[in-house]
Amino acid sequence: MTDPLTLLNDRVGGIAYGGDYNPEQWPREVWREDVRLMRAAGVNLVTLGVFSWSRIQPRPDTYDWSLLDEVLDLVHRNGIGVDLATPTAAPPPWFTRAHPQARPVTSGGTRLSHGSRQVFCPSHPAYAEAADALVEALAIRYRAHPAVVLWHVHNEWGNHNALCYCDTSAAAFRDWLRARHGSLDVLNEAWGTDFWSQRYGDWEEIDPPRDTTAFHNPGQDLDFRRFSSDALLARHRAESRILRRFAPGIPLTTNLMGTLEKKVDGHAFAAECDLVSVDHYLTAADPEGHVGLALNADLARGMAGGRPWLLMEHSTSAVNWQPVNVAKKPDETRRNSLTHLARGADGVLFFQWRQSRAGAEKWHSAMLPHGGTDSRVWKEVSRLGADLADLTEVVGTRVVSEVAVLFDWQTWWALELEARPSGEVRYLEAVRDWYEALWSLNITCDLVPPGADLTPYRAVLAPNLYLLSDEDAKNVTRYVERGGQLAVGYFSGVVDHHDRVRPGGHPGALRDVLGLRVDEYLPLRAGEAARLDGGGHAVRWAERIEPRECETVLSFADAPDGGPAPGAPAVTRNRYGRGTAWYAGTRLPREKLRDLVRSVCEQGGAAPVVDGPPGLEAVRRSGPDGSYLFLVNHTDSTRSVPADGTGLLGATVRDGRAVVPAGAVVVVREHPAKRRP
Ligand code: GAL
Repeated sequence: MTDPLTLLNDRVGGIAYGGDYNPEQWPREVWREDVRLMRAAGVNLVTLGVFSWSRIQPRPDTYDWSLLDEVLDLVHRNGIGVDLATPTAAPPPWFTRAHPQARPVTSGGTRLSHGSRQVFCPSHPAYAEAADALVEALAIRYRAHPAVVLWHVHNEWGNHNALCYCDTSAAAFRDWLRARHGSLDVLNEAWGTDFWSQRYGDWEEIDPPRDTTAFHNPGQDLDFRRFSSDALLARHRAESRILRRFAPGIPLTTNLMGTLEKKVDGHAFAAECDLVSVDHYLTAADPEGHVGLALNADLARGMAGGRPWLLMEHSTSAVNWQPVNVAKKPDETRRNSLTHLARGADGVLFFQWRQSRAGAEKWHSAMLPHGGTDSRVWKEVSRLGADLADLTEVVGTRVVSEVAVLFDWQTWWALELEARPSGEVRYLEAVRDWYEALWSLNITCDLVPPGADLTPYRAVLAPNLYLLSDEDAKNVTRYVERGGQLAVGYFSGVVDHHDRVRPGGHPGALRDVLGLRVDEYLPLRAGEAARLDGGGHAVRWAERIEPRECETVLSFADAPDGGPAPGAPAVTRNRYGRGTAWYAGTRLPREKLRDLVRSVCEQGGAAPVVDGPPGLEAVRRSGPDGSYLFLVNHTDSTRSVPADGTGLLGATVRDGRAVVPAGAVVVVREHPAKRRP
């Protein structure tokens, strides 16, 4: 079956290119200019209607389709497809006024006011009723409109209202708990409520984890996160059901937030979409933001099960919601966009088409900036449109990864609950460390959930997988038994699905496969370091590892500067079944982690895409008709790597090498084509 995104690409005539289009912010004359400039820039897809609810339904009993009717016809006449949003992310003022109890409530009991977006409680029936009616009317109105090629369900579910603590949410939470746990005895056991006399005797006694005197019950906190994500997922499903019923045949997606947010379980939402789309924004304070970008892209591909995916939003330059909103450097957007493409995106869209004059996002960059077409950003946007048109032939090709990194929202939530051994251990930091090692070696990976089918992978990395369910623990163990190379990071496999410590010594779920026992977790203070044998210092975390069947690969140095476990193992390796399980019980310095990751990958036979110089990112997309090597130069000087084939985007391929100027991206259509990374 042809992939829904590939069909969409056919309809828009190539790689999707465009952004959020908010014509309601502008008078009609501007729309004409918009479509003219969209065509000039090569835009072929716009996301319409995301924040149009108050225009479409100005009163509870009145729909006004005039704006959408006109704009849909206009863009269609100009050959531009529409990703039509259900405008349910921003209920209009009349809704809040009619249903003040449908506003979300914070953990401290403050009911939030109108005047922003996502001002609704995900569990409130009045919201569900209003949203469902709107979605149905929208689906019926536009199901046959030739411009509509994709449904965009809501917008970033839970970005601002994921956790609502109101009484309606409390009642829904209780229902969710009843369905999940079945009985209070089971719940009491799962949450360990005998601690601090929290034993529940009636479901009505259970509240969401509202502000209280000291730490919350972690089981309650974790289940509340799960419930909250599920409450939004139920809304996503409700909207999707309506769209599929009234407007079948048009694929649907929702823009996920990837690593940007831990609020909802991205894997669960991705499973409900016909095609996966994600947003990504660079963090200005991160000097290696391009590594985080690549990580997010590989997560998107993991969520898409390896299929092509869509970059629904990123920025042409600065955003407006960070402490200091730094403008992108010349050509940075091009590198960003083409990196997403290299990593499997078949569409590159921005927030937003035209920079707003008013409203909260007027200082957020756009494809068409305040200054109009006489601007650096516009010139880059136009050039990017032309580049993407030149790369049409890559549509539908796939990135093949031989390595998986296990990525899990459940563990992210559990790890960052209150009262942990170290509040400085952060999930994304650990994931990023391991990912960076792969990135710098040009070894491509998919980020997949721990329950995923791991058989296609030659190596699997599990950074800081603190929470591991019984089934997922079996999955990773089986992978090693059958010959896989598994590398596990510190403080992994510690608790079960309910955040209960696994008995018998840490790390309970992985003790056997790793062939060791951890006697004690020994977090390090900020600024503290533990010297490693052979040089380098570990930070953040240490453990007193007692080897059982495993061998020691690297130790902490002896006292006095070997940290809290001088002379003890820091990295171990264990033969288990037909495979090997490696363990790093500390936060290794960059070089040491790279060495470890290189060894694990070598053992498994997972190869780098190219053996390139530092700072040159290489990814391969391949398909039945050929393979494409993408090369992104993040340095200030020209780089070259071995390659054979035809240079695209003006690339020079000479004497068996592709030349990549400083800051540039080139693509090589390879001869002969290659199937492996
Ligand atoms: C996203 C959101 C967009 C816009 C953008 C700004 O989170 O979906 O509507 O606000 O951020 O960066």
